[in-house]
Amino acid sequence: MAQLDQIMDGLHRISTLVDPPGITFNQFVIKDEKTMLVHTGAASLFPRVVENMRQVVDVSALSYVFISHFEADECGSLAFLLALNHNIIPVAPGPTARHLAGFGIHSKPMTVKEGDELVLGRRRLQFINYPSEPHLQDGLIAYDTTDKVLFSSDLFTRRGEGAAVVVKGVRSVFSEIPPQAIPVEDRRLKCQEAIKKLDIALIATGHGPVIDLRA
Ligand SMILES: [Fe+2]
Ligand SMILES: [Fe+2]
Repeated sequence: MAQLDQIMDGLHRISTLVDPPGITFNQFVIKDEKTMLVHTGAASLFPRVVENMRQVVDVSALSYVFISHFEADECGSLAFLLALNHNIIPVAPGPTARHLAGFGIHSKPMTVKEGDELVLGRRRLQFINYPSEPHLQDGLIAYDTTDKVLFSSDLFTRRGEGAAVVVKGVRSVFSEIPPQAIPVEDRRLKCQEAIKKLDIALIATGHGPVIDLRA
């Protein structure tokens, strides 16, 4: 069963707890002049995700879907979403954009890379390289410079916390990206260092609760 929670003004989390293994699959709706969905969830979750999303934004008003990397929980139901609104623009790193085109899901996604900025309106997203599984493809995570929210995808995810929406955390988490998450050391350290430079209030994880770093 998916649940919908407001995290802050204009930011909602849709979350489905799968237990076992005790992990949530999260999507985020960022409402702004251009409204964005962060991750679609896998195809099996689509009816529940879209039902929850409609409580805060109509699918016809969705401008962008940010996809961290090409995997089912990040973009598995994109085709279903596009069937409801073909004007939605997927925003994705190069390898993911190539997959979306190659699989016939979307012919021309917006390709973004580290250093790029996407203005949603009041909010601006910056992107940070995230060498992600599978096969260490160049994924991205996104940082909202206005509200200081890091959309961390599979990084900093936490299991076994049930349906907890927000938990307190500390910045030392940024020094603790495990080798299993990014197995190549220099790329892991580079990602870590890029994140450490950011002024982050909330980590909007792809799995597990939102982590609140504010004092
Ligand atoms: Fe993933
Ligand atoms: Fe994920």
